[in-house]
Amino acid sequence: MAQLWGGRFTKQTDQEVYEFNASILFDKRLYRQDIEGSMAHVKMLARQGILTREECEKILDGLEGILGDVENGTLAITPEYEDIHSFVEANLIGRIGDVGKKLHTGRSRNDQVALDMRMYVREAVRTTDGLLHDLLVVLQRIMEENIDTFMPGFTHLQKAQPVTLAHHLGAYFEMFRRDRSRMKDIYHRMNECPLGAGALAGTTYPLDRAYTAQLLGFDGPTRNSMDSVSDRDYVIEYLSALSVIMMHLSRFSEEIILWNSNEYGFVELDDAFSTGSSIMPQKKNPDIAELVRGKTGRVYGALTGMLTTMKGLPLAYNKDMQEDKEGVFDAIDTVTSCLRLFTGMVSTMKFNRGAMEASARNGFTNATDVADYLVNHGVPFRDAHGISGRLVLKCIAEDKALDDLTLEEFREESEAFGEDIYEAISMKTCVEKRLTQGAPGQEAMRRAIAESRAYLERTQGGKFD
Ligand code: ARG
Repeated sequence: MAQLWGGRFTKQTDQEVYEFNASILFDKRLYRQDIEGSMAHVKMLARQGILTREECEKILDGLEGILGDVENGTLAITPEYEDIHSFVEANLIGRIGDVGKKLHTGRSRNDQVALDMRMYVREAVRTTDGLLHDLLVVLQRIMEENIDTFMPGFTHLQKAQPVTLAHHLGAYFEMFRRDRSRMKDIYHRMNECPLGAGALAGTTYPLDRAYTAQLLGFDGPTRNSMDSVSDRDYVIEYLSALSVIMMHLSRFSEEIILWNSNEYGFVELDDAFSTGSSIMPQKKNPDIAELVRGKTGRVYGALTGMLTTMKGLPLAYNKDMQEDKEGVFDAIDTVTSCLRLFTGMVSTMKFNRGAMEASARNGFTNATDVADYLVNHGVPFRDAHGISGRLVLKCIAEDKALDDLTLEEFREESEAFGEDIYEAISMKTCVEKRLTQGAPGQEAMRRAIAESRAYLERTQGGKFD
């Protein structure tokens, strides 16, 4: 048991209480942020004349030594310390003696842990943005290659109108682009430094909070010391944005699972990104996509858990807030591996253009275009809708496509039909005539693709200006 307090206690802490209270098993992840934060704090104390230059140098050397030893594996972070802050301080005193006891001057573990978490989450936000950027680069490439790959577009999972693969993937491009903009928002809002807030009410030492904020790369210090130690909004915002990313990945996974099935056959997953069955030799399963879809639940769980933990807390710090860590750490690990693997899976997946196109040809995806043709020949849309519907019914009964009807058969329903109906409802025409902004027609799509390319070029993953 190594803890930072004990003066006012006459008994040892019960062992089970100690273990229940300790956070070292999970907050050891924060060792680098904890040491960097301490270094900035000590530099500021010396600058303000609270510590001497010599004391500052000694402490900095000691902290650097701890960081190096943890990183090269010669110093293990073990459970005999209550938390990462106790570990660092006890080690420091062990290395440099009594001067190490001055490290915590003008600081509380409350502002210390608030700082550590902010720095950790801030870095994670950048990592997430970088991974989203990588995924967008892959989507951009596939879009550019498939501007004329026809496929059915669905509503209610029923074939609706023909689109292209580029257009379909373009929808996911937009989702992940929004996810990146959420990362940027969160980053800017959270980039304020809580160090110097003390336990809750600041300190009586003349701390220079702007200086530590600057040393640690923050835009400036937080404004209210009670809020500084009790704010975990940025954790919640980040978990919420991670949940949305998982929701997007999960929807996309669901489509890939469908597309990879024998019934659709739109894609084939690369062998390196699929798995086999222990009993059925013919199987090649989309386990990665299924796992991404499945893991979405635990990220939502982390968000719900954190919201629930925070909802009843009076100001300022309460120990409940120690529960901010495990959920977010797990969510970060989950989203990081899901984004990486998903990107690898999509970039190696083969698209079966023939199957997509054949599927777009049947299922009457050009029934709207039959109606639009009639409208262009003076028939009111509601009547045109009815005529096209009756033709579909006839085709279903005779097991054929609209394109297979003879001109006489078309004309039995309406005199407005002419020889040019075939050209008007060919798949190529159906897609190419859709030129409104955001539609799948080639010209509209080319413009969208040029814009998304420019966006990727001007934004670097993990960098926010
Ligand atoms: N392990 C604690 C946490 O994660 C550190 C802060 C402890 N502060 C305190 N007043 N007990 O929240």
